[in-house]
Amino acid sequence: MTRQAPTLSSIYENDSKFGWLDTVSEQAQHNVHRLFRASAVGMKIKSVLNGTPFRHRMHPAIIIVPLGAWTTAVVFDALEGMSSGEDRLSYRKGADASVALGLVGALPATVTGLADWVDLYDHRRRVGMAHALLNSAAWLCFSGSLALRVTNGDRRGAARALSGIGYGLVMMGGALGGELVYTLGVNVPHTTYPKPPNEFTDVLASDELVEGAPVIIEVERVPVLLVRHGETIHAVDAWCPHAGGPLGDGTFDGDVVECPWHQSRFCLKDGKPLQGPAATPLRTFDVREEAGRISVSPSYEGQSWPPPPDPPASGPKTIQA
Ligand code: FES
Repeated sequence: MTRQAPTLSSIYENDSKFGWLDTVSEQAQHNVHRLFRASAVGMKIKSVLNGTPFRHRMHPAIIIVPLGAWTTAVVFDALEGMSSGEDRLSYRKGADASVALGLVGALPATVTGLADWVDLYDHRRRVGMAHALLNSAAWLCFSGSLALRVTNGDRRGAARALSGIGYGLVMMGGALGGELVYTLGVNVPHTTYPKPPNEFTDVLASDELVEGAPVIIEVERVPVLLVRHGETIHAVDAWCPHAGGPLGDGTFDGDVVECPWHQSRFCLKDGKPLQGPAATPLRTFDVREEAGRISVSPSYEGQSWPPPPDPPASGPKTIQA
């Protein structure tokens, strides 16, 4: 038997120790979903929080503020302890201001993170909740530290210690956030692999694609969704870039498709994401219709894409040492 090497987040697979995270998550997810999905405005706000209009995730951009501020606070706290006179006072003020800035910056970081987390399920949702709880505990530590700093100058040591604990917690939370993306593939575009050939490929007879009946074909392991709309044929990746949802099962409205999994909406004309959680455009294809045949070719600048992985071997192989 081949065992799986553990990762940072695999400890959260232990149901007896961490099953309670699912209970907390289910209720929180239900409430947040209700809040966003109650109206079109709610979905628009969620899209902005996801980063859909910018085609870039908001959460990783915003967390720089609390992380940077709290790192500065910890450094200034250390420098305060090593200096005297005017310098000591300056470091003290700098540290206090940095703790406060981090507390304020953590609020938009929390809201954007919540908008991304609410579309996760199973193990990823559980790890996301652990990430959120660690960061919340860090926020409380820094809040306590700031309270001591502004109300009781004699408890400077305790204030610094609380900041240190908060910083440790935020590092642990950050490590889980990295794990979510780099190991568990949260919000990584699901269309990077495999890569279709950079040339036109004949895929379908023209009369097999009629208006109102999208068709999915495959171009070297890449499923492509073909939609006839008036004089135009749209061809886009059939996988939703958010988490691989089957766009062929989605809802079509003119030149827009809505993913059936988390309701991301994309313009079929250029792949642009119109509603989150997806923030990455759909890969689009140029289409030729000639002599009763349809052919497609990827329309992106594909030269810098990594090569696709080889297909799995179809049977057992012996490798000579
Ligand atoms: S897979 Fe999440 S919106 Fe499509």
